[in-house]
Amino acid sequence: MALLKILHYPDPRLHTVAQPVERVDDEIRKLAADMAETMYAAPGVGLAATQVDRHIQMILVDVSETHDRLQVFINPQILQADGESVHEEGCLSVPGIYEQVRRAKHIRVRALDLQGQPFELEADGLLAICIQHEIDHLKGKVFVEYLSRLKQERIRHKLRKREREVM
Ligand code: NI
Repeated sequence: MALLKILHYPDPRLHTVAQPVERVDDEIRKLAADMAETMYAAPGVGLAATQVDRHIQMILVDVSETHDRLQVFINPQILQADGESVHEEGCLSVPGIYEQVRRAKHIRVRALDLQGQPFELEADGLLAICIQHEIDHLKGKVFVEYLSRLKQERIRHKLRKREREVM
C-alpha cells in the first residue's frame, strides 16, 4: 500500500468531474486500499478519488470512532434525499478550515462495492453528511463553495499564504 498525495484547495484539479468506473478490477481495489491508508493516516472520515487526482467515481467513508467501518462506494448515486441538517464540515483538501454547511438529513444511495456488486444504503447523521460531501468532490465541488464569495476568498487567501510558508 502507499500513501497518496492529497490535492489542496484551490488546486483547479479539484474541480474535475469524475468519470464512472467501467469495471471494478484489481487496479480499482488497489487504489481503494491506497486511498484507505491515506484517509486513515491523515486522519479523515472520508476521501474521494478526485482528492488524490484520480478522476473516477469512487469514494471512501468511515465515520466510526474505531476506524474499522470502511465503506467504499463506486459510481454512487443519491436516489433520495430529504430533511435538512446544518453541520460543521472540514475537508482533507481544505486543511484547518471548518464551516457550517446545510445538507439533506436522510439519504438513500446506490453504488457498487469492491466486488462490483450493486448495493443500496440508507444513511442519516454524520454518515449522510459525509457521503454527500464526498459525492460533491466527484462533481468537482469543494464544500467551501457553499459559503459566501467573501468567505471563499478569505479561505483561498489563507491557504495560499500557508502553502507559501511551508515551501
Ligand atoms: Ni472533502
